Amino acid sequence: MRRAKISVIGAGNVGATCAHWAAAKELGDVVLVDIPDKEGVAKGKALDLACCGPIEHFDARITGTSDYKDIADSDVVIVTAGLPRKPGMSRDDLIQTNVKIVKSVSEQIAKHAPESVVIVVANPLDAMVYTAWKTTGFPTNRIIGQAGCLDVARFCTFIAMEIGCSVEDVTALLLGGHGDDMVPLPRFASVHGIPVQQLLSDETIQACVDRAKVGGGEIVKLMGTSAYYAPASGSVQMAEAIIKDKKRILPCAGYCDAEYGVGGYFVGVPCVLGANGMEQVIEIDLDADEKVLMDESVSHVKDLVNVVRETFPELV
Ligand code: APR
Repeated sequence: MRRAKISVIGAGNVGATCAHWAAAKELGDVVLVDIPDKEGVAKGKALDLACCGPIEHFDARITGTSDYKDIADSDVVIVTAGLPRKPGMSRDDLIQTNVKIVKSVSEQIAKHAPESVVIVVANPLDAMVYTAWKTTGFPTNRIIGQAGCLDVARFCTFIAMEIGCSVEDVTALLLGGHGDDMVPLPRFASVHGIPVQQLLSDETIQACVDRAKVGGGEIVKLMGTSAYYAPASGSVQMAEAIIKDKKRILPCAGYCDAEYGVGGYFVGVPCVLGANGMEQVIEIDLDADEKVLMDESVSHVKDLVNVVRETFPELV
């Protein structure tokens, strides 16, 4: 049986950690790609990770390269190439530089891995997914943004910390863009089926919502750069659902046209992930307050995409 192949573009913090999780979960062979100046870093990290195999008991060929030919026949390509945030920066501040990077990376993906499913991680996420879509020309089911898996994991973590329960029993839902106006939905949060409202006060739930929204910024302030363990973990959760055709329902930046009245943008919604990538958007009924928050968040996504369109007319 042919092993699956996962290529990770960018061998920095998020990219190397994606490679780590993918190898540890034995999802397939992993190719770590970076620019020619950092080919040694990509090769070195790949070799270092490969040497964990005998200890961690995984079989995976892990290679580092700067040659995009090596991503041929990838099932999934995870795009982490791009600048991370520094303290005081919003994700949106990265837009000009990262559009150029994601555009050049996407051209290579279209050329060398034309059948792959692309998971975009670089920020500002909502604009980068659009850039990858326009540049590759891939159908919308094969372009997906990673944001919701991370954001909802943060929300669940903070709920579990407040309750003092296992994170394994907490599930929740979150919609919208990957900015500070993302929309965690406490109404859909539960601990093994018990609505979270029966376990925490409204004030504490709101504090978890607020902390989830700025969780990325909290980490940037502490470390001086963007988070990478959980962003990589969320990306590999998506890759696993696709490679194993699991039909998981995960919050991802998926293409919505009529769905949620979005009108042709990638926004965070519950998506079915399987072998064909983003196979379906699940539409849920929102109450009036949730709808207002969702519409505000979607409007921010549209503003970001408009910045891309105005600055890079070839991406219209
Ligand atoms: N092709 C391949 N790799 C590239 C390219 C390119 N064209 N341009 C840049 N890179 C590489 C850089 O050389 C670097 O090794 O992308 C890597 C980015 O790594 P880090 O600087 O460590 O950034 P990281 O923390 O991994 O974040 C990457 O993911 O979560 C987002 O906001 C984050 O946009 C940021 C991205």
